[in-house]
Amino acid sequence: MTALVAGVPVIAIDGPSGAGKGTVSRAVARALGWTLLDSGALYRLVAYAGRADGVDLADEPALARIAQALDIRFESTEAGGEVVRLRDRDVTREIRTERAGSDASRVAALPMVRRALLDRQRRFARLPGLVADGRDMGSVVFPDAAVKIFLTASAEERARRRHKQLKEQGITANLAALSLEIAERDRRDATRAASPLVQSADAIVIDTSVMAVDAVVERILGIARERLKF
Ligand code: DC
Repeated sequence: MTALVAGVPVIAIDGPSGAGKGTVSRAVARALGWTLLDSGALYRLVAYAGRADGVDLADEPALARIAQALDIRFESTEAGGEVVRLRDRDVTREIRTERAGSDASRVAALPMVRRALLDRQRRFARLPGLVADGRDMGSVVFPDAAVKIFLTASAEERARRRHKQLKEQGITANLAALSLEIAERDRRDATRAASPLVQSADAIVIDTSVMAVDAVVERILGIARERLKF
C-alpha cells in the first residue's frame, strides 16, 4: 500500500473548507518545487462528470465507475494559474462553484468513490516530493506522510474568506447563505462513515484565523525543514 509512496516525502495538509488549504498548499509546493495534489478537485470532478452524464449523485456504483475512469488533466499556465480539464474540456471555473463543492461533499461520502480514487491520489507522489491537500491525506491516503498538518480557522472567518474568494472570481454569493453551506459541508465531511475529516493524532494543528498566508506557509516550511533535514 505505502510502497507507492516509498522514498517520496509527503506533506499532508488536511482541514475543513475555507481554512486556506488550497492557497497554502499551492504556495508550499511552489516554494519547494514539489508536486501538488488537490484531492478536493478530484471529488469535484467526479460529481461534475456525474451530473454531466445525468447520473444521480446517490448512485454509488455509477459514480465509482466514473471515478475509476476519470479522464482529467491538471495544467498550469505561464502566468502561474491552473487549468483543470475533464475529457479535454476546460472546467476550471465550473468545478469551483459552491454547488460543485456541495456536490463533491455528497459524492465524497460514498465509500466506493473514495476507494476508486485512492490509487490515483497515491500516484501523485513523485520525487522530489508531494504536497497533498484534502481531508484524509494524513489519515488514509498517506498515513506515512513525513509531515501532517491540520489547518483550521473559525467558521466565521472561513465563510468570510470563501466569500472574498468567490467575489474575486466574479461569482456572487451571499455571506449568510455561505456560512450555512459551510456548516452543512463541515457536518457532512466530519460525520460520514468513510474517511471522515479527522485530525490525526500525529498532525500539527495550525489555526489560521488570525494568521497571514505567508506566515502559515513559512511555519509549514519550517516544520518540513526540521523533519526532513533540508
Ligand atoms: O477541498 P474542497 O473544498 O475542494 O473539497 C470538496 C469536497 O470534497 C469537500 O466538501 C470534502 C470532499 N473531500 C474529501 O472528502 N476528501 C478529500 N481528500 C478532499 C475533499
